[in-house]
Amino acid sequence: MNLLEQIKNNKIPKHIAIIMDGNGRWAKKQGMARIFGHRNALTAVREAVIGASEIGTEAVTLYAFSTENWNRPKLEVDALMTLLTKSLKKEVPDFQKNGVKVNAIGRLTDLPKKALETLKEVIDVTKTNTKITLTFSLSYGSREEITSCIKKIATKVKEGVLDINAINDNVVHQNLYTHNLPDVDLMIRTSGEQRLSNYLLWQMAYAELYFTDVLWPDFRREDLYKAIYTYQNRERRFGKTSEQLDGEHEQTT
Ligand code: IPE
Ligand code: IPE
Ligand code: MG
Repeated sequence: MNLLEQIKNNKIPKHIAIIMDGNGRWAKKQGMARIFGHRNALTAVREAVIGASEIGTEAVTLYAFSTENWNRPKLEVDALMTLLTKSLKKEVPDFQKNGVKVNAIGRLTDLPKKALETLKEVIDVTKTNTKITLTFSLSYGSREEITSCIKKIATKVKEGVLDINAINDNVVHQNLYTHNLPDVDLMIRTSGEQRLSNYLLWQMAYAELYFTDVLWPDFRREDLYKAIYTYQNRERRFGKTSEQLDGEHEQTT
C-alpha cells in the first residue's frame, strides 16, 4: 500500500496550518536573489492545498506574511506584495475548478491598496465554494490578533452588550480573525526551523506540530502525506490518559 492509501484509511486532520518557510535559502542555494524563492513557491502552495483537499481536509491556513515581515528590506516587501496580487488573480480559475473558498486573516488594512482590493475580489468570487477553505495569513501576528480581540471584547463590555462573566473560550474564539475556522489539528513548518514565529498561538493550543527540513519551494504532495502520516501515528490525549482513550475508542467502535 502506498502512503496515500494508508493515510486515507485513517483520521484526517480537519485543519492544517502551514508556516511556509525557506524561500530565501532555497534561492540562495542556487546563487539567486531571495525573491526568486518566493516566485517559485506557488507550485508548493498548489500541491499542499489540492493534496489536502483530495484527502478530505476542510481547511488549510497558510502563513504568507507576518506582522514582523514588514521589517524586511522594502524591495523584498514590495516584491512579495506584487507577487501576492498577481498570484491571487492568476489562481482564480483553479480555485473555482477545485472548489476553493478563499479567506484571509491578519491586519489586512496594512496591505497596499491594490493587494487588498484583489484579495477582497477573490474572497468574493470564491465565497460559495465548499470543498476547502484556504486562508491566507497576511500581515498576521498572533499577538496582534489577541490584542485586537481583547479590545473588541472590552468594547462590548464597556458598551454593556456583553457581561464580563459571560467571557469564556468561545467568546474569545468568536472575536479572533479565525472565528469561522476550527482549531488547528496539524501545524507543518518547512525549512528546519522549530519555532512558531507568532503564528496562531491560541488556535494551536492542542495542535500536533510537525517540522521538516524541506524548503518550502520543494514541498510536494508526498511531503504533505508524510506529515499527515506522522500526525495519524501520534496519540492526541487532550490531557486524558491513554487508557481512557482506549475506553472511548471501544465505546465508539
Ligand atoms: C518564507 O520564506 C516566506 C516569507 C516569510 C514571506 P523566507 O523568506 O522566510 O525564507 P528564509 O527563511 O529566509 O530562507
Ligand atoms: C514566518 O517565517 C513567517 C512566514 C512564513 C510568512 P519567518 O522566516 O519570517 O520567521 P522567522 O523570522 O525565521 O522566525
Ligand atoms: Mg524564513
